[in-house]
Amino acid sequence: PHTAGPAAVGLRFEPLTQQTGDHVTVPPGYLHDVLIRWGDPLFSDAPVFDPERQSAEAQERQFGYNNDFVGLLPLGRGDHVMVVNHEYTNEEIMFPGYDPDNPTRQQVETAWAAHGLTVVAVSGRRRGRRSGALDVVVDHDLNRRLPLSAEFELTGPVAGSHYVRTSADPEGRTVLGTVNNCAGGLTPWGTWLTGEENFHQYFANADAIRDPLERERLDRYGAESAETERKWERFDERWDLAQEPNEINRFGWIVEVDPYDPTSTPKKRTAMGRFKHEGATVRLAADGRAVAYMGDDERFEYLYKFVSAEAYRPDDDEHNATLLEHGTLYVARFTGDSPAGEIDGTGALPSDGAFDGTGEWIPLVSGTTSHVPGMTPEEVLCFTRQAGDAVGATAMDRPEDVEPSPRTGHVYAALTNNTDRTAEQADEVNPRAENRFGHVLELVEDSDDAAAATFSWRLFLVCGDPEDPGTYFAGYDKDQVSAISCPDNLAFDDHGNLWISTDGQPDSLGANDALYGVAVDGRRRGEVRQFLAVPTGAETCGPVITDERVLVAVQHPGEVDGANYENQASHWPDGGSSVPRPSIVVAYRADGKRTGHA
Ligand code: FEO
Ligand code: CA
Ligand code: CA
Ligand code: CA
Repeated sequence: PHTAGPAAVGLRFEPLTQQTGDHVTVPPGYLHDVLIRWGDPLFSDAPVFDPERQSAEAQERQFGYNNDFVGLLPLGRGDHVMVVNHEYTNEEIMFPGYDPDNPTRQQVETAWAAHGLTVVAVSGRRRGRRSGALDVVVDHDLNRRLPLSAEFELTGPVAGSHYVRTSADPEGRTVLGTVNNCAGGLTPWGTWLTGEENFHQYFANADAIRDPLERERLDRYGAESAETERKWERFDERWDLAQEPNEINRFGWIVEVDPYDPTSTPKKRTAMGRFKHEGATVRLAADGRAVAYMGDDERFEYLYKFVSAEAYRPDDDEHNATLLEHGTLYVARFTGDSPAGEIDGTGALPSDGAFDGTGEWIPLVSGTTSHVPGMTPEEVLCFTRQAGDAVGATAMDRPEDVEPSPRTGHVYAALTNNTDRTAEQADEVNPRAENRFGHVLELVEDSDDAAAATFSWRLFLVCGDPEDPGTYFAGYDKDQVSAISCPDNLAFDDHGNLWISTDGQPDSLGANDALYGVAVDGRRRGEVRQFLAVPTGAETCGPVITDERVLVAVQHPGEVDGANYENQASHWPDGGSSVPRPSIVVAYRADGKRTGHA
């Protein structure tokens, strides 16, 4: 039904129509600035960015490439520490004269430095209290780059096991770097969680692995059979499975970083399982235990949660820093409540009017006790996908961000798309065949307790062009909503609204990727409104939404088939004939009022 009157509080802006073009677009009355770009200095000794003269040495002092997750933690008086993932590199559009068959050592080492993480202080004070603008604080004590040369510690049950020992690290406890960090989350105890996602693509020569069990484990994650696309294996044998078969097992984890301690060693938390981690977001259970929700972003993969053994203690950082080392890892199984024959793969609602049902969290491993027959605890945690297979977990349409509402505890999962699902494989929780547009799941834990073993669920959005009959916007009037597809990152604003950023609209809707806000409760539930669109070839990542401002990470601008350094598809943000630069954008009200308020 059409709902008269203003939109939900926090979403009162004029929604954008579908955008194209090589620029960032925001609603009337909003301004936006580029806060920091690939190559901008974190330290005053960093050289000025020069795309024609790149080096690892420069890049390790500059903001990295392909910013994805963004988090803001308070520093007081309007300042923040900003944490950012640098998921991957686009060598063809980064480097002049790049030859994909023969990358140079300098290019490869620069790419190693452009991966990883950034911690950087930002200040909201310099432009006055009424402005949402932010400025980078170069040389702040907390500024930090964590490139592929930085030390990370493995903790929890897999640390030290023979699956993670290598010739460079016979103890199996110290890993150099983190790769493909996609989404993430901030914890109630002030740390940052970041997910190692498509780590498999960096490892070459799986064909050299002759042991059938070892090969099966590699293939379940999809390591490259011969050369990798980036060919890092030519420059460091740790990327070559024929030389170092265990290095790959040291990636694919959730990483915990303390951004307030620039000398701390980040931790890879093996108790949370190893898969293509999109990210992890934490909610406290009724008894104070930390519950982390996690997606494995690949077609037909699973949704997981980790429940810590011990409870969070306010003001006990030392204790809280160990919460993610001990606990139980679960995988989700979903059951629909409509007859299977009513799910025809088109997205047509079943006769009870909802894609909905119940589900259970199946325990895989608790501390050093395995719940999976035939697998040790270390094997369940290191080869978690196989553990999920063994217990009959539900194969989902690419689980991206999973985010509990800080207000209600209801959990939202972005299922970005899955064009491989057939009509026969359609089920009530993944109801469309050749799912190009994705959907958003809403999960309610029984007794509203994040540690519950069972839950109910329903699909909140079945995305696409609202004129497509196979879409659903929580029952809201489809004439009143923005088209949306390929939901990826999720975030909540100060008013309990869900914000969704997308990855894949150019191919699915013919429009630039974008950021949307939607009410999840009340009369406006399901009213999707587009707030911001990103430039040509870019993906919208990271969103942070507060009353003061909206932050997005503009990832891979100009990533278009056939584009290269000499023939760019985007010149954002510097314009002219410049190289595109992944950047963080901050948007805010021109009149100094609050985001989405009248
Ligand atoms: Fe890196 Fe799942 O998107
Ligand atoms: Ca149903
Ligand atoms: Ca993502
Ligand atoms: Ca994605």
